[in-house]
Amino acid sequence: MMLIFGLMLLLQTAACLEINCSFNQTDPCYAALGDKLNLLMDRNTTKDELKIQKRINNTQYDPMCRVKQGRIKECDLYNNSSEVKVINGTVLINRVNRSDSGNYTLTLTESDGTETSRDLQVIVEAPIGSVEVSIICSSSGVMRVFCSSKGDQLLYNWTLNGGPLMDGNSSIDLDERTDGDISCSVKNHVSHTQKTIRLVCPTVCSVSVVFVLVWCLQLMVLFGLLGAFHIYMRHTSGKKEEDEKVRMRRFRERHEHTAEDS
Ligand SMILES: *[C@@H]1O[C@H](CO)[C@@H](O)[C@H](O)[C@H]1NC(C)=O
Ligand SMILES: *[C@@H]1O[C@H](CO)[C@@H](O)[C@H](O)[C@H]1NC(C)=O
Ligand SMILES: *[C@@H]1O[C@H](CO)[C@@H](O)[C@H](O)[C@H]1NC(C)=O
Repeated sequence: MMLIFGLMLLLQTAACLEINCSFNQTDPCYAALGDKLNLLMDRNTTKDELKIQKRINNTQYDPMCRVKQGRIKECDLYNNSSEVKVINGTVLINRVNRSDSGNYTLTLTESDGTETSRDLQVIVEAPIGSVEVSIICSSSGVMRVFCSSKGDQLLYNWTLNGGPLMDGNSSIDLDERTDGDISCSVKNHVSHTQKTIRLVCPTVCSVSVVFVLVWCLQLMVLFGLLGAFHIYMRHTSGKKEEDEKVRMRRFRERHEHTAEDS
């Protein structure tokens, strides 16, 4: 129990990272679902008034936070989420979710009235789950390899025996006689995973599993029917025997009576 708990804790701490993005950066800010995200300023902003607005309709009514001397004056940006704080002009999102994706504008108003603004695009992606690779061989001699995984904005890359294959799709066609190990690597902006399997046509195996299942089902139905028939037969034959006995007794009785009468 303790072990499982410890393991879960370890996984959680391993999965949840702290990401720092800056309003000074030109590249988008990528964060994985559940990460702790800090949107930093590039300078001391304690004396400035600042406004962080999420651009949705590009109007003044878009949700925003206004901070004056390090204190939040008004804020409807995060619907009062306890996961979000604005401290010293840094937006701290404790557990980032998909709705935090978007374009943000930071506007600084210095004490002399000069305004400067910066934009930052935030993109939140689900990290990649486990990668599965499967093979289907067709009768035409083509071996089709499939790669599947969960996550956002997945990019697929294939390598055969360590050498890259030119394909960015989630499946790839090879000659049936191709030998060796195939690797599918999946990545997005926040994570990457890969899986390697041996190239073997699995048709016989995958078909036989289904075949055996159907066969078992058929047997079960057959035995079920046989059992039911057996019970039915015993029931009706027992009844017939009894009927016969009763008839015989009546017949004998009647005979005895007629014998007495005459
Ligand atoms: C993020 O920035 C803060 C403040 O500058 C710093 O203390 C922290 O170590 C940074 N974290 C990462 C993961 O870079
Ligand atoms: C946020 O909380 C304040 C006070 O608790 C409340 O007046 C306001 O309506 C809330 N805003 C939202 C969007 O829930
Ligand atoms: C904000 O920044 C000022 C100056 O850099 C610092 O003295 C203060 O402790 C900071 N406040 C918080 C809540 O971090």
